[in-house]
Amino acid sequence: MSNFHVDRLIDLIIHNEVTPAVNQVETHPFCQQSQSAKFMQENNVQIESWGPFAEGRNDLFQNEVLVSIAGKYKRSVAQVVLRWLIQREVVVIPKSVHKERIIENFNVFDFELSQADMEQIATLDTKQSVFFSHNDPEIVKWIGTRKLDI
Ligand SMILES: NC(=O)c1ccc[n+]([C@@H]2O[C@H](COP(=O)([O-])OP(=O)(O)OC[C@H]3O[C@@H](n4cnc5c(N)ncnc54)[C@H](OP(=O)(O)O)[C@@H]3O)[C@@H](O)[C@H]2O)c1
Repeated sequence: MSNFHVDRLIDLIIHNEVTPAVNQVETHPFCQQSQSAKFMQENNVQIESWGPFAEGRNDLFQNEVLVSIAGKYKRSVAQVVLRWLIQREVVVIPKSVHKERIIENFNVFDFELSQADMEQIATLDTKQSVFFSHNDPEIVKWIGTRKLDI
């Protein structure tokens, strides 16, 4: 599933025989989805992050907290964000069109963020989308009725 927030998700689960395996929702340091992630875990749905870098919005790559943590581990901000998601057991598929960044984004399995650093990143949560709300009926209508070039 994609963008099924918890009310829609539980509706789907209780009225169907098959529980969705994965639900992809906007998840990054500014929109952490903590309660939704807990709900999905309790209902055997794997949370997956889309927009793990907030597509660079809110100056994510220059964020002071993230830059400082990255310096400490001699890693990039992108790697810190990916590591933070993985340690929260959030599946993540970042996007890059640059080979060196794709390689960089894979190299996150040989270090671990401390609990203190995880908690510091938790303070960046605004509990809001940096794009638009999938709970807004006008947005849902726009997404559901626009013509796609595919
Ligand atoms: N289900 C949905 O509604 C939904 C919505 C949006 C996205 N998605 C999916 O989520 C995945 C990723 O999301 P996204 O592309 O929207 O956003 P994202 O991964 O948060 O951000 C991608 C941006 O980060 C840059 N970037 C990637 N790696 C970097 C690095 N190591 N250092 C610096 N910059 C880096 C990329 O630039 P370059 O490409 O120039 O390197 C690109 O501008 C995609 O597979 C996408 O299809 C799903």
